[in-house]
Order: sequence, then structure tokens, then C-alpha cells
Amino acid sequence: MHYHRRLQGAAAIDHAMEAKNYKSFWDNKASTRTGAFIAVDGSANEDVARLTGAYTARQVAAALALEPGDRVLELGCGVGRIGRELAPKVAHWEGADISANMLGVARERLAGLANVGFTELRRSSLESLATDSFDKAYCVAVFIHMDKEDFLLYLEELARVLKPGGLLFFDTWNLAHPVGWRRFALEVGQYRNADPGQRKDVARNQFSTPEEVRICLEHCGFEVLQTYTDSPWVQSVAMKRGGSRDAAAERARLARDAVNIAYTPLWTELFDAMIRVTGEGLHPQAMIDALGDDSRGEEIAMFRVWYRELWRHNEAHWGPLPAALA
Ligand SMILES: C[S@@+](CC[C@H](N)C(=O)[O-])C[C@H]1O[C@@H](n2cnc3c(N)ncnc32)[C@H](O)[C@@H]1O
Repeated sequence: MHYHRRLQGAAAIDHAMEAKNYKSFWDNKASTRTGAFIAVDGSANEDVARLTGAYTARQVAAALALEPGDRVLELGCGVGRIGRELAPKVAHWEGADISANMLGVARERLAGLANVGFTELRRSSLESLATDSFDKAYCVAVFIHMDKEDFLLYLEELARVLKPGGLLFFDTWNLAHPVGWRRFALEVGQYRNADPGQRKDVARNQFSTPEEVRICLEHCGFEVLQTYTDSPWVQSVAMKRGGSRDAAAERARLARDAVNIAYTPLWTELFDAMIRVTGEGLHPQAMIDALGDDSRGEEIAMFRVWYRELWRHNEAHWGPLPAALA
């Protein structure tokens, strides 16, 4: 997914780092259709976006127990990688994003659907969306790219636009997991010898502990239902306080359905191989060794594509793309 692009970003300063704010950063990334896909998915390929989109959509649908009557908001919808999969299953899907260019691609990709809307955001606010107007909301691979102040502002806004009892699902990098920490160390590395006068990338990867996430949610009017933390991600499901939804029943459901929501040990293992290669100088063959055959799980096919793209971008160092990834 987008993850390996960021890993590369750790090694080489990205042009988009010059951007002064979130909007210009992401508009810059998505200035071409290919650029938009790479920024969300690392693939520049519609087929891969559908593969990874289906994987993530399943996590979201399970976390939120999506139902046909739901009005659903995606914050940071990008090219509609997830929305394209979920919109046909709900009453209304609204994609909100800071980048007009991202929304342009999403609009195109979801053009055949009548029950979708698009909202261009101006700042860390959902000001154009009505209070108590959504049953469910989700946000994937977005909070990892913003400062905590903006994370909090968005949580407040999500609490406003959700109906009482409405459900929220999101993720962020997990500093408390060993692989999450290794991912963080990669970021840290690029600042070790950085020019102290240089401003940090506005959309650089940011990391949180599960406890921080819980505190923020509680301050914003949510009751935390479940937090999955056994991967480099913190994945949270929370409920806006004040409704009639039964929190205990939701918790039991989320515990039962964890296998469809939480990142798997296989995902974590394959991701770890990638960051050890990119960040710790492990020989890239380690990624191929990590894969094994497709029967190990659906993650294998996704990671084979991400590894392939990563290798392609590093052929100058690693040599030609090996047949095992071609
Ligand atoms: C890595 S992409 C993920 C897109 C989508 N959630 C997915 O998983 O395919 C991050 C998305 O978040 C959007 N984004 C980044 N910062 C944002 C902000 N401060 N407010 C709203 N959207 C933001 C970007 O424009 C981009 O579309």
C-alpha cells in the first residue's frame, strides 16, 4: 500500500515536503492520476487498488457493522479506494478530503454510483457537514499524516457530525508495538543529521500509543469500544456518547469479529520484512524469503505487489527486479 512509498520517503527527501500545508502537500501528490494512486496505494494500478481496497473495506465493514440503511462518512477518502467497495452496500457514502485532486479521481472512480457525495475540506474541520447526520464514520491511513492538534480537531468534528450512538473506526501508527516502533525509528533516522533550520514535512508519519488514542477519544465525546493493538497499527472503534446503542453488545461483537478487523500476524510479519530492508539495510532478498506461497493468506498477493514496486524503485541499488517478484 502507500506504506512503502513512505519508507522510500524516509530515505530520500520528497519534493512534496516543500509543501506548506496539508492541502498543498496532498494536491501536489495527486497532481496526476498516477501520483494519486501511488500516494494512497503505492501501486499506480487500478487492479491493485481494488485488491487492497477490498481488504481494507472488509475491515471497515466489520468494525462498523455496516448496514444498508447507513449514512457513512469517510474522512480522507483519497481516490475512493475503500469507498468504491463500500458505497454500494450503504444508503449514502460521503467522501471528504483536503485534496481537490484526490477527490477528482474519487469522483471519476465512483461515477457510476448515485448514492455518493464528495466534500472538499479547507482545514481540520467538517464545517460543511451537518451535525448528527451520519450513522457511521471511518478514517484509514490519514491520522498518521497529521499533527495531534489536527487529529483532535477532527475527532471533535466527527463527534459532532455522527448521530448519538454513531460508530467511528480509524487507525494510526502504533508506537507501542515493536514493529510500529521500528517504523518510527525509520522516521527518526532521517532527522538525525537534518538541517536544524529545515521545517519538518507537514504530512510526515506520526505515531501514537493506544493510551493516547483512548484519551483523545474520551475527551471528544466518544466511548471506546475496542482497540486492536497487536500490529504496527492502533485500530480503534468508538461510539458517540448519548445514543441507545448497547456498548456491551458492541464490544462482544467486536471481540468476536476481531479476525476480520485487526491486521493479521502475517500482515505484520511481511510489513516488518519490508521495513527491515528499507530501514535497516537487510538484503532485499529477505522480502522474497518472507513471502512464501499464496496459500499462507491473502496478504501474500498484496505484499508481493508492494515489494515489486519497492524493488522497481530501487533497482539502481538492488539490481534488476527478480523473477520471483516480476
Ligand atoms: C494515504 S491516503 C489514504 C486514502 C484513503 N483513506 C485510503 O486508505 O485509500 C491519505 C488521504 O488523506 C488525505 N488527507 C491528508 N491530510 C488530511 C487532512 N488534514 N484533512 C483531510 N484529509 C487529509 C489525503 O489527501 C489523502 O487522500
